Amino acid sequence: MEKRITKAIIPAAGLGTRFLPATKAMPKEMLPILTKPTIQYIVEEAVESGIEDILIVTGKGKRAIEDHFDNNFELEDNLLRKEKYELLEEVRASSRVEIHYIRQKEAKGLGHAIWCARKFIGNEPFAVLLGDDIVQAEKPCLKQLIEQYNRTQASIIGVQQVAEEDTERYGIIDPSEKNDRSYRVRNFVEKPKKGTAPSNLAILGRYILTPEIFPFLGQHNIGKGGEIQLTDAIQQLNSIQKVFAYEFEGKRYDVGEMLGFIRTTMEFALNHEEYGREVENIMEELLLTRSSLVLKT
Ligand code: UTP
Repeated sequence: MEKRITKAIIPAAGLGTRFLPATKAMPKEMLPILTKPTIQYIVEEAVESGIEDILIVTGKGKRAIEDHFDNNFELEDNLLRKEKYELLEEVRASSRVEIHYIRQKEAKGLGHAIWCARKFIGNEPFAVLLGDDIVQAEKPCLKQLIEQYNRTQASIIGVQQVAEEDTERYGIIDPSEKNDRSYRVRNFVEKPKKGTAPSNLAILGRYILTPEIFPFLGQHNIGKGGEIQLTDAIQQLNSIQKVFAYEFEGKRYDVGEMLGFIRTTMEFALNHEEYGREVENIMEELLLTRSSLVLKT
């Protein structure tokens, strides 16, 4: 019988060490790009892709995520009385989906975070979205993968090409056959050492997985960085059933590390409907001041 994807996991229990000290008492997923926390972009993508239930895996100091997606009657009433309907709509954006929470007691790695969700998922295929990547696309990235799943009933891993020198930062696929944007995969390799990557097709935070992944995650094998890696379990899954990679369409923003985060903020600010022009002027002014200072020294 064909199965539908209705459940998604958003793991958000990492330590966020690359953004310390901001992430000491606040989850990295709550860092905003302009006025919206990164995790809200992810929840919106899931909702637009037809997901009905989301499980957010949280950890220590992550209460702000639960508060963020909770109703805030006082605030909503205030916006209503001031007739700020657009803001009200934004504040209520997550009410179209059921959001559930579970705690990962120790940050043992992404693979372990997904394993913590096994009872919520049961025996169904499911989606995983990571907050490290925001994707802007005509058709939501996750929806593209779900459509592939509906054709194949097999696990689908979202990939895009990255620069050669960046491959050591990602899970990388070793593709065998290509059919349009879809790949059969020989191997999934987590963070290959410089110069050893089998391709430049990187796994970028969007997955459709079958529940057969859970016994592999349950082996708690320790991989790269001393963590239980999702990529390693996908590699094992690939040995018992077909796992495809799909080169999704859309612009991907890397918000999981400092430079990507800064770049995304700048680009979103430049594209901002109300402030974009002024931001452009500010940036030009800053650059001009810098270059005239350089000329003087
Ligand atoms: P990252 O490695 O990007 O997140 O994990 P991190 O560990 O928070 O970041 P740094 O390296 O310390 O700066 C990818 C995703 O997996 C989640 C993270 O929250 C992030 O969304 N994750 C990671 C967990 O949920 N649990 C873990 O044990 C590790």
